[in-house]
Amino acid sequence: MTGSPETDAEPGRELELDVGPVGYGGQCVARHDGRVLLVRHALPGERVIARVTGVGRRGRFLRADAVRVLAASPDRVTPPCPYAGPGRCGGCDWQHAALDAQRRLKGRVLADALRRHAGVSEVGGQALPESVEVHAVPGDEDGLRWRTRVRYAVAPHNEGPPALGFRRHRSHEVEPVGDCRIAAREIAALPLADHPWPHTVAEVAMTRSGTGELVVRPEPASTRDPELLRLLPAAVSVPGVRGRGRVTEQAAGRRWRVSGDGFWQVHPGGAEVLVDAVRALLAPRPGEHLLDLYSGVGLFAGALAADLGPGGRVDAVEGSAAAAKDARRNLHDLPQVHLHHADVRVWLRRRSVVRADLVVLDPPRTGAGPDVVRQLLARGPRAIAYVACDPVALARDLAVALAAGWRLAQLRAYDLFPMTHHLETVALLLPARSG
Ligand SMILES: C[S@@+](CC[C@H](N)C(=O)[O-])C[C@H]1O[C@@H](n2cnc3c(N)ncnc32)[C@H](O)[C@@H]1O
Repeated sequence: MTGSPETDAEPGRELELDVGPVGYGGQCVARHDGRVLLVRHALPGERVIARVTGVGRRGRFLRADAVRVLAASPDRVTPPCPYAGPGRCGGCDWQHAALDAQRRLKGRVLADALRRHAGVSEVGGQALPESVEVHAVPGDEDGLRWRTRVRYAVAPHNEGPPALGFRRHRSHEVEPVGDCRIAAREIAALPLADHPWPHTVAEVAMTRSGTGELVVRPEPASTRDPELLRLLPAAVSVPGVRGRGRVTEQAAGRRWRVSGDGFWQVHPGGAEVLVDAVRALLAPRPGEHLLDLYSGVGLFAGALAADLGPGGRVDAVEGSAAAAKDARRNLHDLPQVHLHHADVRVWLRRRSVVRADLVVLDPPRTGAGPDVVRQLLARGPRAIAYVACDPVALARDLAVALAAGWRLAQLRAYDLFPMTHHLETVALLLPARSG
C-alpha cells in the first residue's frame, strides 16, 4: 500500500490508514507518508481502507472516503439511511455514528474552533473541555424525521422518470433518494416518487410547518406541471398555482408567519430551544433596550419583548424584505418592537441608537464580521447572546470581542441537525469587568 506521494494522491488510490481526530465538516483527519488526509465515513481511532477522492486546496491535503473498516470504533453503527455511504448521498455526514457519539464529535469541533480561532481556554472561569456538551432537542429520540424544510435536487434518470435526490458530496451528481430518513414524515410520504418532473425543474423545496401545512415548490417556479397538482393531496400548496407559499409556525407561545423560503429553524423543536437558551442567558429585565440583529421573521424580538415590558424597547434588524414584512405582521401587537428592513452593518453605522442593554446576534453562516462586532461593543451592552450555526465563524467574531476586553461567560450547544455535521451554539458574551 505504499507508493510515492504523487501516486498516493491519485483519485481512486486506496490507502490503509489509522484515523485520527475529528475535523471540520463531517470528516476525520489521518496521515499517510507525511500527507494529511480528510476522511469521510470514518470515525476517530478506526483503521480503514480509504479511497482518495481528490486533492484539497493548494495540494495541502487529500480527500478520501473510508470504503472498508478494518478495525471499527465502538461508536460505529449501521447507518439508519440506506442511501448513506461513500460516493452516495452527500446530505448527511454522521449516519454511521451513534447519536451520542455524533454529539461528542460536534462538541469537539466546537471546542477546537474556539481554541484555534479565538484562543479560548476557559468559559466562565472553567477550563474549556475537550468536547463541549451538545444537547439533544427534547423529544428527539433517534435523530430522524426532523427536517421540516427539504430542498431536493432532481436527478435525471437514464431510464424512467427523473427522481428526487440529493447531491453527492462535492459533486453536481444527484443520488436518487426515495425516502430521506431525516425528512419530516409528512414530506417523505408525499406521493412524488414516480412523478415525471419537467426537465426545466432543477430543485424542489418542501416545507412542513409546525401547524401541519405542506408546501411543495418546484424551482424555477414558472414551470407548468398539471400532473403535479393531480398527484398531491388538495391541502398541499404549490405556490403560484394553488394555495399560498407562506406557512404559520408556532414557538414561544406565539404564531409566526413565514413566507417563501424565509428563515425558520428546520428542526421542529429548534426555535423553542434557542428562545429558551437566549432568555436564560440574557435574563432580560423590564425597561431594557434590546437589539435583535438578523431578526428574520422576528422570533427573538417577539419572544423577549414581554420580558422587557411596555417600558422596554426592541430594535430588530433584518435584511430580507419578505422576512421583514412577515416580522411586521407577526409583531404588530408589540408596540415596544421597532422593525428595520436593513443590512445590519449599514444600519449600525448610520443609526443614532447609541446605547443598548442587550443584544441578540443571529447572523447567517458566514458570521457577523469584525465591523458589526465592533459596532455592537461600542454600544456598551451588558450582555450579548450570539446564536451561531457555524463554530468557526462564531470563533472568528468572538476573537474580536475577546481582543476588545470581553469574555465568553457561557456556552450552550444543541444538536438541531442530527446525522449532519452541523450544530447550533448560543454564546453569552459579557464585558470583562461584569460579574
Ligand atoms: C440565521 S437567520 C436568523 C433569523 C432569526 N433570528 C430566527 O431565529 O428566526 C439569519 C437572518 O439574517 C438575515 N440576513 C442575512 N444577512 C443579513 C444582513 N447583512 N443584514 C441583515 N439581515 C441579514 C437573513 O435574511 C436571515 O433572516
